[in-house]
Amino acid sequence: MSTRTTRVTALTAGRHSDVVVIGFGRGTADVAPLIATATAWGMTGAVGETLRLPAPPGFDAGSVLLVGLGEPDPDGGYGPDALRQAAGVAARALAGVPSVVLALPAATPEAVEAVTLGAVLGQYSFDAYRSARQPAATEWGVLTGLDHAEADAAVRRAVVLAHEVNRARDLVNTPANDLYPEVFAAEVQAVGAEHGPAVEVLDEKALAAAGFGGLLGVGQGSVRPPRLVRISYAHPDAATGIALIGKGITYDSGGLSLKPVGSNEIMKRDMAGAAAVFAAVVAAARLEVPVRVSGWLALAENMPSGSATRPGDVLRMYDGRTVEVLNTDAEGRIVLADAIARAAEDEPDVIVDVATLTFAMRMALGNRMFGVMSPSEAFAARGAAAARRAGEQAWPLPLPADLRPSLNSTVADIANVGERLGGALVAGLFLKEFVPDGTPWAHLDIAGPAFHEGEPHGDTPRGGTGAAVRTLVQLMRELAEAGT
Ligand code: BES
Ligand code: MN
Ligand code: ZN
Repeated sequence: MSTRTTRVTALTAGRHSDVVVIGFGRGTADVAPLIATATAWGMTGAVGETLRLPAPPGFDAGSVLLVGLGEPDPDGGYGPDALRQAAGVAARALAGVPSVVLALPAATPEAVEAVTLGAVLGQYSFDAYRSARQPAATEWGVLTGLDHAEADAAVRRAVVLAHEVNRARDLVNTPANDLYPEVFAAEVQAVGAEHGPAVEVLDEKALAAAGFGGLLGVGQGSVRPPRLVRISYAHPDAATGIALIGKGITYDSGGLSLKPVGSNEIMKRDMAGAAAVFAAVVAAARLEVPVRVSGWLALAENMPSGSATRPGDVLRMYDGRTVEVLNTDAEGRIVLADAIARAAEDEPDVIVDVATLTFAMRMALGNRMFGVMSPSEAFAARGAAAARRAGEQAWPLPLPADLRPSLNSTVADIANVGERLGGALVAGLFLKEFVPDGTPWAHLDIAGPAFHEGEPHGDTPRGGTGAAVRTLVQLMRELAEAGT
């Protein structure tokens, strides 16, 4: 992960740099001659715009990068989203520049955090499989009028969070020939040992002994056996117990209900939920969020073979119920159901699962927004609001009871597929069966935003995005604050 070579520090006074980054918008009157030049060059201040100019006299830098801030808020200022995106755009434009000062309007700790997040997230690039030499170390400073201790703390918090988002990105980007359940589990163990959280791994023998028929059924077509990983962290003052469950299909071929060419190229992404849960628990530990949290990673590779689960097979799940597998490509809900049932045994106050679960979700909300489903309209709204405050896009969705009968099976307790229309909601209704009544629960379907296939924008690179990591951390903070 190349961003590890980036050092970001708080600056309470200017210093010499190769490039100084300045926001282009209202409130930049102090550098007005520069703005006049930029305007003459056609810059309008729109989000995503950049213009690099030789530094005018008075700037202790080789050049100035103007970056568009977009429309100001009604109060004339710029909020954390605008600052994070602008810093991300600047970071991509200046990738590899050894020393940079970000002189964006960062007058509050939130603003300093936003600029830092954007800078580290924007500099991300996945180079692990490139033969070329790794980029040199860079030294970036975030200029602010805050006192140094406050600014320094804000920068440190944001760097930790950004590195955890980048950890999830790295895992999503790593191809499935190198990241399979055993390797993923070993990585969680190594990171747990480094940062504190406790890690337990159930291998295929332990899964069989405990009756995890869902995880085993999905994983049995692969030569790489499944794992259930638990990573937990408890703050000494925690009053709230949270269970996070992540879908970790390290490759989704569809199984015997094989996906066609055109739908299988990026299915290494199908463990993005588990990556987000993993990174969020590590972030909570490193940031000392006052919660008790267990992350459950349901890891399996969904492959077709002579030993694979067949359409029509019936699996006995961890909680004893039976599932008729009518479509082996609806595998995520099966592994999640086993993990949710296990997580529920510890009687958490809240359960949240995260998954690249359905194509239907992408049809509904597109590729930049995830859906938040819950039997409680209020809890779904809380999840979506936490996402907004974390700078992610999400929208609450319902779990209509009338869709539930479509999951009825003629032979088992439930089938794994039902009505095609509203497929994201049907998948949510399947999961709901495995959540104890009365436990607040939300299901995050991140099939759209987990992976970005187009040109980079703002602080979002190509490939794995780390979707939901910041939302989960924000939600943990808010649940801790509210006492659930
Ligand atoms: N992992 C896929 C969903 C997905 C599709 C994620 C595209 C990201 C991009 C999931 O396992 C799947 O195959 N879902 C099926 C369910 C269907 C068979 C009921 C789908 O959505 O088509
Ligand atoms: Mn699938
Ligand atoms: Zn899948």
